[in-house]
Order: sequence, then C-alpha cells, then structure tokens
Amino acid sequence: MEKIFDTDRRIRLGIWGCGRGKNFVESARMLNIDVVAGCDIHDEIRERFKKDVPEAFCTADEKEFLACDMDAVLIATFLPDHAKHTVMALEAGKHVLCEVTPFQTPADAVRIIEAVEKSGKIYNLLENYPFTPKNMYMQRMYEKGFFGDFVYGEFEYLHECRALYYGYNTRPVSIPVSPGYAVHSWRSFLNYHHYCTHSLGPAMYITNLRPVSVSAVKDTACMPGALDGVGSATANPSIVKMSNGGLVRNLVGTTTNDFPMGMRFWGSKASAQHLRDEFQVRIGGTGDGYLLDIKPELNELQEFALKSGHGGGDFWELYFFAREFLYGEKAFWNVYRAADVTMAGILAIRSEKANGVSIEIPDFRDKNVRELYRHDHESGALDFDTSDIFPAGHDKELTGNFTRLMTEIYPIYIGGLNLFNIVMDGIEIYDLIENDTGKLSIRDAVNTLIKEMPKLSENCRMLKKIMEAYPDSLPGRTIAKIFASQQMEKLLNPEETIAELQKWQTGIYAER
Ligand SMILES: NC(=O)c1ccc[n+]([C@@H]2O[C@H](COP(=O)([O-])OP(=O)(O)OC[C@H]3O[C@@H](n4cnc5c(N)ncnc54)[C@H](O)[C@@H]3O)[C@@H](O)[C@H]2O)c1
Repeated sequence: MEKIFDTDRRIRLGIWGCGRGKNFVESARMLNIDVVAGCDIHDEIRERFKKDVPEAFCTADEKEFLACDMDAVLIATFLPDHAKHTVMALEAGKHVLCEVTPFQTPADAVRIIEAVEKSGKIYNLLENYPFTPKNMYMQRMYEKGFFGDFVYGEFEYLHECRALYYGYNTRPVSIPVSPGYAVHSWRSFLNYHHYCTHSLGPAMYITNLRPVSVSAVKDTACMPGALDGVGSATANPSIVKMSNGGLVRNLVGTTTNDFPMGMRFWGSKASAQHLRDEFQVRIGGTGDGYLLDIKPELNELQEFALKSGHGGGDFWELYFFAREFLYGEKAFWNVYRAADVTMAGILAIRSEKANGVSIEIPDFRDKNVRELYRHDHESGALDFDTSDIFPAGHDKELTGNFTRLMTEIYPIYIGGLNLFNIVMDGIEIYDLIENDTGKLSIRDAVNTLIKEMPKLSENCRMLKKIMEAYPDSLPGRTIAKIFASQQMEKLLNPEETIAELQKWQTGIYAER
C-alpha cells in the first residue's frame, strides 16, 4: 500500500519516552506522520532511538524537546508521569497522544480534561486493544444490532511480565534497571487495576457504553518473583457496571496463563467468545443455539494494520489520530472516554479497600461533578522508593547485580527459570501430551536448557548470595519466595541436572 490518506499534509510528531522501535516510525510515516524529535533520559535508549530515526532531533532535556517545531507529542514516559507530561505538552501548544494509562488520580483526570478543553488541541488515548480485527468486527456487528443489547462480558488483559519489574521494556532482552540495586520506577510496584484499559477498553469500544460503577475484592495469593509485599504478580478482577445495566468482569494482572485479549461476550440476541486463536459466535438467541467458528473479513487497511504490533492496534490508534488531525473526524478515545476507562481502575482499588463495595464512576463531562474530585489526589498506588531497595550500607558490588540477575531468570522471552519449569513440568506430563508438536516443543526445550543450565545455575548461586547477605530485606525475601517454589537441588547442581536430562533424552529417543 503506497498511500493511506489522500493528502500530502504531514504531521510532525515528537516522542517523549523512546522505548518504541523502527517499526513504529515506519508505520507512522505511512500515516502522514513524521517522527521529528525524541526525548529520553536513558542514555542507551536515546542511542537506540538515534540509530532508528537518524533524521530526528534527540535530547534528554524536556524543555528543549517541547520547544521543537512539532504538531503533536506522543507520551510514553513512566506511567505515573503521564498526567504531568500531558499538561506540559498541551501548554506547549502540542496535540497529545498519550500511552495508557493516562493518569492515576481523579484530580489529574479533571486537570487533564480542563487542559484539553482550554487548549483546543486533540487528545487521544493510545488504547490499542480494541482495534484487533476481532474486536472491530464485534463493534460493527454490535452497532448493527446483531448481538442485541449487552448483557454480560468477560474481558481480560493478562500479561506475565516480571522481567519488567527489574528492567526496561526493550526487545529482545530487557535492559536491567541501573544501578542494579534499584528497580523499575513504576512496574515494580504497579497495582494492576491502574492498567485496566486494555480489557475494559474493548468492552467500551464494542458496546459504546460507559462504565458507571465498579466493585472489586483483592486477590492476596500471588506468584513468586514480584517484590515481596510491594509488587504484585496476581489476578486483579473487578466487576464493572455499564450504562445499560450490563456487567463486565474486567480481569488484569500477571498470572501463569497469558490472555492478552481474552473475551467472552453475551448479548440479549447472540454471544461471542475469543480465546486465543479461536473466535466463535453463538446464534439463535438461546443458550444452546448454533456455535459457529467465525473468521472476520479483513479490508485492505486491516491486512496492512496487522503488520504492526498488538494485533494491528498500534496502527489503528495512530490512524485515528491522523484522521482527526487531517480531516477533523473524531477518534473514539477522546479525553472523556480516557477518564471513564481509567477511573474504573482507580476506583476498583478503593473498592478493594472497602471490601468490595460498589463505587460510582464519575462522569467528568459534567462540570459540577468535577468539583467533587478536583482535589482528590489519592491514587491507591504505593509510596515506594525504587532508587535503592537494599538496607543502608549494603555491598554495592554484590547488590548491583540484582536487577541483571532478575531479568535473566525471568526474561522477556522464554528462558531462565521459565524454561527450567517448562522442562521439569514438560517431562512430567510428556507421555500424556497428545500431539507431536507439543512433544517436540518439550524435546527442544530440554536441548536449550542443557545449553543454558550452567548460566542459570550461576545466576541462582549469585541470587542466593544476595539472599544470604540480606535475608530480611525486600530483595532477600523476594529471592527466598522464588527459591521456595523451585527445585533448588537441580538448579544448584547443573552437571547432575544435565546428566539427568541427557538420560531422559536417551530414553525418549530409544522409544521413538
Ligand atoms: N499500549 C500498549 O500496548 C503498551 C505497551 C507497552 C507500554 N505501554 C505504555 O507506554 C509507556 C511506556 O512504556 P515502556 O514499556 O516503554 O515503559 P518504560 O518504563 O520501560 O519506558 C519509559 C521510557 O521513558 C523514559 N522516560 C521516563 N521519564 C522520562 C522523562 N521525564 N523524560 C524523558 N524520558 C523519560 C525512560 O527512560 C524509558 O525509556 C508506559 O506508560 C506503558 O504503560 C503501552
């Protein structure tokens, strides 16, 4: 595809927080958007950006950045700073595209809405998950009346990302936070209710309904690997009432089974479910109507969009912004919907604290309602110092390895302890695995682990040293919980483990 919009007008965009790569810049270019500036406080991430976008101006200085000649700013800095950076960009006369989540307190919601209204600039929340082909199909069919009225839905954004508690979101490997005795400035202690837009967002987009109240009960059981008592690796469900009376079970968090786009949807006339690749619709307006596999048709733009990240969503959020900028056609994620979806998470945390009571989600379109929240600065986030998590006077030569070790035992892609667990559990259930592909994946994992075992074992030894030096500290307790969930004998004795795995391989190959 050569051209998407029928105009030569270009949009000059600056990126604040340069974690995004070359692919983003290329799909932006197709949408009449030129990345002309970048701002990042991290030297290595700035260097990567300069390599990816050599034509753009790049700086660590936010004032210098905001003074650049550009139409719009994309805010992808640390999550707790999005509100502040949004207001700064608007006041500098720029349109804003803001990454999720846009703010963390009701007072900031009011501040941003009023800054947008005062500036007259475009504000789009970059909520990309509604724009997968399946969710876009659902939206079209819902609007047509195919599903009837919305009754109940389960929407999920489950993403196990423990590596990111200790490193940056860089691919293929996470750059560990430096110094190694500090941790990531927001992911290490994120309350996942603040990250509720990827799951509630699709529900709002499909139905065009507003969330009106929320209730939640806290899940206090947790996976190991999160900072003990500070971070959270667990499920965070909430029940959200929509403006037509229907309910959404909104589930976010880190668990042992990723469902980044899970959806079950019940309308009064028909239902749908999307779990992994399968997408089915049940028709007949009755519980046991026909359940049909559906493959939504894709138009040319959707085919093209699929080449960008998050099931095409990254393309569409930019497309809708560019269309609003170039032709004035309003995008779905305006500042009011951004407030609706985000407030559902903030108030879920309050509901948890009040043992699940239902809390009304204010509609900030109403100026009188804003007055009740203008000074409400409570986010529900922990007040946690990420810059040094060890006790005073710690041995920095030892503790400086902590974040590197954690990103290596919990890497972004399968490896480290995750690979070790796949092998140990895979061998246990190997005979019961039904298909050859599944069996082959376990045999491959065994081969890889044999190669990685010495390094993994060395990393565990180093973590053990840190744990033994500071057993009562936050990292010490965190490591102890990880080790309590692992077969440490095997992890600390790589030669024996490798010999055991090779013996297993011999047995398997003899059988075949
Ligand atoms: N929509 C999605 O699918 C999606 C996916 C990933 C991340 N996100 C969001 O995008 C944002 C960025 O995500 P990430 O994973 O790159 O996060 P990150 O925390 O790893 O990176 C943030 C980047 O911003 C830089 N930064 C922070 N404060 C800055 C400042 N004041 N000035 C200049 N640079 C600054 C950091 O150095 C870092 O490079 C997050 O808020 C996250 O919620 C959205």
